Parts: sequence; C-alpha cells; structure tokens
Amino acid sequence: MQQSLFAGTNNDANKPHCKFISPKPPATRFQGSKLKLLPWIYSNISEICFQSVLDGFGGSGCVSHFLKGCGKAVTYNDALVSGYLAALALVENSRECLSESDVSVLLSMHSGVQYDNFIERTFKDIYFTDEENAWLDRVVQNIPLLESRFKRAVAFYAIFQSALVKRPYNLFHRRNLYMRFAAVERSFGNKSTWDKPFESHFLAFVAEANSSVFESGQSCRALNSNVLEVDGVYDLVYLDPPYINSKGVGVDYFGFYHFLDGLADYANWDDRIDYKSKHRRLRLKKSPWTSERKIMGEFKATIDRFRHSSIVISYRSDGVPTPTEIENALKQVKKKVVVHERENKYKYALSTNTKSTELLFVGE
Ligand SMILES: C[S@@+](CC[C@H](N)C(=O)[O-])C[C@H]1O[C@@H](n2cnc3c(N)ncnc32)[C@H](O)[C@@H]1O
Repeated sequence: MQQSLFAGTNNDANKPHCKFISPKPPATRFQGSKLKLLPWIYSNISEICFQSVLDGFGGSGCVSHFLKGCGKAVTYNDALVSGYLAALALVENSRECLSESDVSVLLSMHSGVQYDNFIERTFKDIYFTDEENAWLDRVVQNIPLLESRFKRAVAFYAIFQSALVKRPYNLFHRRNLYMRFAAVERSFGNKSTWDKPFESHFLAFVAEANSSVFESGQSCRALNSNVLEVDGVYDLVYLDPPYINSKGVGVDYFGFYHFLDGLADYANWDDRIDYKSKHRRLRLKKSPWTSERKIMGEFKATIDRFRHSSIVISYRSDGVPTPTEIENALKQVKKKVVVHERENKYKYALSTNTKSTELLFVGE
C-alpha cells in the first residue's frame, strides 16, 4: 500500500522519505501536472544530495510546493504568467494569506474604481455566461486594491482555479460554452461544478490557498521566464517540458491557458488578443517546444545550460524526440544517467493514451 506522503513525517525506511513540513499541495487541474507522480519522482531523486533546486517548467507548481515542503531552496520558473503567479502565492510566499476583509474588498463594488466590462464585451458566449464574465471583470479590477504582491497573487490563484473548474476540460482551447448547457448524456465533466457561482468556488479556493501557504525556513522564489534565460546555479534542475507525442502533436500551453494570462494583464489584454481566432486567444507565441523539428535543439541547449547541476527530466516513452535521443543528450554532459520507468498504471486526466509510460531520466 502506498503510504501518503502528505500526512506528515514519513518514517518508513523503505518508502521515499522527506520530512514534510508543508501542508498537502493543493489539487490541480493543470494539463500534465505531476501531482499524482510526486511520490514516484521523489523516490527516484531522494538519494541525490541537493539543497537548491530549479523547477524549470513549473506548470501548476505542485513539484515546487512539494520540494519546498522537503526543506529545499526552490526556484520555480514557467513561461506562463498564470503559473508564475500561482507559485508566487504558494511557493515564494511564506506567510501572507487573504483575510476576510481582503476578500470583502475583492468581492465588492468600489465607488473609486472606474470599472471596465472588457471580459463581458469581448468573450460573450465563448467561455462563461454574461453574469460570470461580469463577476470576473469586477473582481480582477479589484485586485490592485490589495497592497501586498503576495496577497494579489493569492487572489489571482483563486480566480484562476475558479475559472478552470468551471470550464469543460478545464481548458480555454475552444469556444465551447454551449457544452455546459447542451441537453446531452455526458461521459465527462461535472455540470454542477460548472454551474456553481464563481463566488462559491472563489471562497473555497481562497481557503485552500490560505492553508497551503507555509514557511519552510528556506528562501524560495518564483520566476516567469524562458527556461534558457533563467540565471543562477542549482544543485539539481528538474525539467518537465511540454510533450510532443508519437503523432507529432505537441501540447500548446499558451493556447490552453491564454485566458488566465489575459486576466493577469487586464489593462493590456485587448492589445494582445488575436481577434481572428474564434475563441479570442492571445496572439500566438511560437514555441520550439511544440515543434517536432526544433524540440531536440531546445533540449540540447537546456541540458547544456544546466550541465553543472544534477539534471532530472520527466518524459513519456512515446515522446518526440525518442527517449534514447534524450538519454544520449544527457550523457554528453553527465557521467551517470539512469532511466526510471513507471509501471503503466498512471493515466493523465482526460488522456486516452494508455500505451505510453512515464519516464524519469536522472543525470548526475
Ligand atoms: C508539462 S508542463 C509542466 C507540469 C508541471 N511539472 C506540473 O507538475 O504541473 C510544461 C510547462 O512548461 C511551460 N513552458 C513551455 N515553454 C517554456 C519555456 N520555454 N520556458 C519555461 N516554461 C515553459 C508551460 O507553460 C507548462 O506550464
């Protein structure tokens, strides 16, 4: 039986052990999140002697939050602003929570604020109802009223999570509000969660975020950068880049979560939208990590950039480039490379891929 790693101190010598000083990492609806794989990942890196760690493609932040709980000095990085804000709230932040009065400031109308209705005007019938769009317009424009950047980040985190749970597939990749209201048999999703008011979700996520903020005694930070531009030296670098499957289809994180990055940049959102796209996404940022032709070069450059650190890479057995190519690239800079394969029990949420297995490359 797998002992819970989040229940406090794990004393079983045969299990991955890490003295947990953190609360359980919050649940995540993020595509490719490693939340459920944390015990397996940790069991394969716990023998490595490291204190400082870079989570280069941090995504939901669950790996960073977990490693913070292990007492590591964690640097979270992700190219998405929404990911960065979540990590600012739960990884870099060690003490600031939203009080009842902060929440009241966020949810009220203030006579001193000139409210725009940009979301209501721009995203009509795309992701949320008119009433829900108006709620987003109001609460996002109240965030600057909070004085602390950590509190503002917690507020963004709770809005992002509320928006994600209300979306079919938890994504913003399509104009598909109609799915919530179509009278059909559903094999997925949860209509009552979709239709629950924003405010109920928001209050629950504020409570969850507040209980996930903790002091670890180590300095942790959050960055919002291309992984190749991250500075500093780290004992260990964990890389979990976007995945291109055997059919050559890559995961376009900017395409999935553009709406959250727009919320985080409300004042400039209009200028950044591609109005030719039906679902009003942000103008496309081409990424080499989603290009079959360019991804290997990017892997090599990233491995080379962090050649002085232990390098740990999460991967899939049917990924492009092939696992052998990744292993060979790691061997160029690391003396010892071990490839761990997880039994094929794990399936990502909403994934129909049952053939590929989860891999972890460990280069020392
Ligand atoms: C597979 S996900 C990471 C999942 C994460 N480990 C978790 O458990 O939630 C890949 C992440 O890489 C980010 N990303 C894509 N290109 C990037 C780049 N050039 N630099 C940094 N992050 C990038 C995406 O925004 C996405 O969050």
